[in-house]
Amino acid sequence: MNAHATISSDVTLVPRYGRIAPAYDRLHARWLRHAGGEAQSAFEGAVTALIRPNMRILDVGCGTGSLARRLQRQFGDDIDLTLVDACPQMLDRTSDIAVTRVLGSIEKLPMPDATFDLVTCSWALETTTRTHRAIGELMRVVRPGGRVCIVFCADLPCARVSQIVLKTAVQWRGTGRFLRLRDVEDALSRLDIERVRRLPCNGPAAVLVLDKPA
Ligand SMILES: C[S@@+](CC[C@H](N)C(=O)[O-])C[C@H]1O[C@@H](n2cnc3c(N)ncnc32)[C@H](O)[C@@H]1O
Repeated sequence: MNAHATISSDVTLVPRYGRIAPAYDRLHARWLRHAGGEAQSAFEGAVTALIRPNMRILDVGCGTGSLARRLQRQFGDDIDLTLVDACPQMLDRTSDIAVTRVLGSIEKLPMPDATFDLVTCSWALETTTRTHRAIGELMRVVRPGGRVCIVFCADLPCARVSQIVLKTAVQWRGTGRFLRLRDVEDALSRLDIERVRRLPCNGPAAVLVLDKPA
């Protein structure tokens, strides 16, 4: 499953990510330092706690592969990692990691149903306006009894001026949206999810752990 195939043209943010790919890690580090750090820690803590030997894990909107690199350092060959991203230039930046790489959109994942034990998605849900469809895809490819972990930019109060500045920068660059929690909750209520947990964190971001019924 390794493809640089064509994907649908409604994936409008992809050219923007292609342009910023070389600078992405630096830009994202600034976001994490000033705004998304707590959410990222909660997300990574949840992901790490859920991992068991031999798990098949899918990272959707993998970007330059920072989560995959971290998980491989920690779990080595005990896990089987697959990365998906809609932007070839981002996917190319993961070439140093021994994983399966797939070009594809969160709105139509090129994987069969129930393929993975755990699906992760960090700061990529906000790349689509079709939240319900995207979460539906994350849930489709996870097996019954599996989990989906998501961290995303949320339209929640900013505690510091630096957060407001960064929020404006993300919106100006046009690389993502700040999702309204109510819209995400509406999408979740229409899907077959056994349990939704929102992990505590401050800042304009939210972390969700979704359980698929066994
Ligand atoms: C903000 S970055 C997050 C990258 C990485 N997950 C991280 O935590 O650093 C968003 C990623 O989503 C990708 N992306 C944009 N639109 C997408 C889509 N429709 N489907 C899948 N990935 C998409 C971008 O190419 C980019 O790599």
